[in-house]
Amino acid sequence: MMNVPSDFEIKLSQIAEIMETTLVRLIASHAGGPATRLNQAMRYAALGGGKRFRPFLLIESAAMLGVQVTDAVTAAAAVECIHGYSLVHDDLPAMDDDDLRRGKPTVHKAFDESTAILAGDALLTLAFEILALPEAHPDPRVRIELVRELASASGATGMAGGQMLDLDCGDTERSRTGIEQLQAMKTGALIASSCRMGGMLGSPLAEDIAALDAYGRAIGWAFQISDDLLDAEGDSEAVGKATGKDGHKNKATIVGLVGPAAARKELDELVVNAEKALERFGAKARLLAAAARFMASRRS
Ligand code: IPE
Ligand code: IPE
Ligand code: MG
Ligand code: MG
Ligand code: MG
Repeated sequence: MMNVPSDFEIKLSQIAEIMETTLVRLIASHAGGPATRLNQAMRYAALGGGKRFRPFLLIESAAMLGVQVTDAVTAAAAVECIHGYSLVHDDLPAMDDDDLRRGKPTVHKAFDESTAILAGDALLTLAFEILALPEAHPDPRVRIELVRELASASGATGMAGGQMLDLDCGDTERSRTGIEQLQAMKTGALIASSCRMGGMLGSPLAEDIAALDAYGRAIGWAFQISDDLLDAEGDSEAVGKATGKDGHKNKATIVGLVGPAAARKELDELVVNAEKALERFGAKARLLAAAARFMASRRS
């Protein structure tokens, strides 16, 4: 039987295509210059792969509030630059020491470690350069808010802080509260921020942003549980990265704490919570609700 793609899958792949052309354009115009090796490594890290799930969340949150896709792509590209940088550094020998990412050799394998560190640095800074462009939002006050939002999701209280806790892996990090906190920071922060940023492009209402925040937190938590389930049970070829590593490295995960079956139950509950958070938006939130359900069944 043919597998008919859902509306959500169609939208995700449309956004992936738009992201590709947007990132090609922005890297060409803002990351050129004489350091061609760095430019090549940035392109290698940012292009030609990835689900583009965070851009989907930002663009779809904005679209639900009446914003055209073309008016949300720059902010979405900024988030994806941060995400791409986080993966390049996450894979380094000093961190998770991985050789495979998105079905290809990791950046430090395809280039070398120093180039990978610099490509990560340059993607991180490119994110804020493009978020400050007028094309990100015509109102400079909104742009400053977007910059602040993305910075706090990426730095010591967000992704980078979460990665630090992930590497610490002491007893505190292994308790349920410890795991919830570290995962909310390392993965949840950027995912929730993508939803809030989409909201900020389209609505000045605190209630809209709060609902998107609640949705983003639930889906961010679900996303990391599903990533950990893929690591425990998934197929490396389908996932495009090594699997079975979290157990081997004794990482602090919910799957490690309660086992895959109980983790899957938690994941299903989070999907319901994410859908509930969207209630105020009615039928307009259809694709965001479908994105939450995708967490429970994704294979990559
Ligand atoms: C993987 O993120 C890293 C985590 C935060 C769990 P994704 O699963 O979104 O990776 P890509 O972008 O699709 O490759
Ligand atoms: C990484 O989490 C989260 C980031 C902030 C990059 P993981 O280490 O579980 O991500 P994968 O499994 O390598 O993609
Ligand atoms: Mg990691
Ligand atoms: Mg990793
Ligand atoms: Mg993982």
